[in-house]
Amino acid sequence: MANLHVVILAAGKGARMKSALPKVLHHVGGVPMIDHVLSTANALRPRSITLVIGHQGDILKAALSTHSNVGFVVQEPQLGTAHALLTTEPALRGATGTAVLLSGDVPLLSANTLKTLLDRHESAGAAATVVTAVVDDPTSYGRIVRSGEKIARIVEHRDATPQERAIREINSGIYAFALDGLFDALKNVAAENAQREYYLPDVIALYRTQGRGVETLLVSNADEIRGINSRIELAAVSRIVRQKKNAELMAAGVTIEDPATTYVDPGVTIGADTILHPGVSIEGRTTIGGGCEIHSGVRIVDSRIGDRVTVNNCCVISESSLATDSRVGPFAHLRGGAIVSENARVGNFVELKKATLGPGSKAMHLTYLGDAEIGAKVNIGAGTITCNYDGVAKHQTTIEDGAFIGSDTQLIAPVTVGKGAYIGTGTTVREDVPAGALAVSAGKQRNIDGWVDKKKQKRG
Ligand code: UD1
Ligand code: CA
Repeated sequence: MANLHVVILAAGKGARMKSALPKVLHHVGGVPMIDHVLSTANALRPRSITLVIGHQGDILKAALSTHSNVGFVVQEPQLGTAHALLTTEPALRGATGTAVLLSGDVPLLSANTLKTLLDRHESAGAAATVVTAVVDDPTSYGRIVRSGEKIARIVEHRDATPQERAIREINSGIYAFALDGLFDALKNVAAENAQREYYLPDVIALYRTQGRGVETLLVSNADEIRGINSRIELAAVSRIVRQKKNAELMAAGVTIEDPATTYVDPGVTIGADTILHPGVSIEGRTTIGGGCEIHSGVRIVDSRIGDRVTVNNCCVISESSLATDSRVGPFAHLRGGAIVSENARVGNFVELKKATLGPGSKAMHLTYLGDAEIGAKVNIGAGTITCNYDGVAKHQTTIEDGAFIGSDTQLIAPVTVGKGAYIGTGTTVREDVPAGALAVSAGKQRNIDGWVDKKKQKRG
């Protein structure tokens, strides 16, 4: 929008979080809460976005360096929300139209609500419009004090009388302001309150006494404007995001046995008739096909899962892909570019890293496959290890189609096992094995008759 400027406040200490991390970088729904605010701001296509930083500002600036359309203004010291907005005066010099003020710690606000706010604000020709909501527990929020229909002022919880504390209509901390006269008004805000801070909500009372138009927009979904000041509120807001995602998935045909213990990030997609058992966590940019079954205790991060895949209990899968009809687990670890092809199987206590297991191949027990290319219909016996690291560099193991790797085999990379070759149990494979060959390295077995009895007599 041509005459729209967004300001986001994120300079405060966030003291109630008791954290070394800036509050707005704490994650909600798998991403820093400020990312939610920035994408809502971007949805309005404003002329500018200004983020007010201060406390731990350098960390914040570094974390947001990829957001090229965001301007940073430093508020130092942090003297309150009115003072924070005032620090953007040089950045917004000459700007006209409307400023929308967002809080970095109110992440669930929708772009639709903001559009409604702007419509209301502009059609009323108001100097300020405040987004409000009626909540069950208004503790810690500023209260909307009305005289008749109209908003008269906003009083912070700490400064409120018992009668004012009984008011359940709260200030969301989200406003639209006419830029005309805004910074002059901010300079007239006094710090006469319990915290000795310059409170932005005081502009409302100021405008009212000056006879400037102030409107409110009461949102029906109070969840949208929940603020995060503490870990308890962080958990409460995260739960809302999770419940919404789970509801969407279930509406689209995914079975979630226990939504309360199922954690799916907002960016994840899952096909119909997939079943998620309790205690599953699916994160990042993961996609899962239809008809899959994901058992309890599984964590999947940034991975691609095809259709009809079974992931048995307690697997960790990251940056990997499982093709249609493959089966993995229980207790498997797939990471860093593991690829399990169609109809392939990975069993218990198996780790795959940067390894491809070809179609129909199996690695069922106690195995490490790293930096390995394994063809189709290969059988990897129990206790197989690719020795991919020589202490200096990583090396590749190649196992061609139809090979049979006997149990307790070590493959010392770089090494290739040819098509259909057979590796005897307990072999240390140091050299390439030609197609169709048998490789054995263990020495001949010796039996010493009567050894046990002799040993016992000696001890006797
Ligand atoms: C604020 C509002 C309150 C409202 C609530 C909604 C004030 C005085 N109170 O209270 O009416 O109900 O939000 O969530 O505005 N910040 C700065 N610089 C500062 C102080 C704060 O940038 O000097 C930033 C914070 O980083 C935060 C936002 O402003 O992102 C709000 O500050 P916070 O201290 O969380 O205010 P609340 O007590 O939540
Ligand atoms: Ca807050």
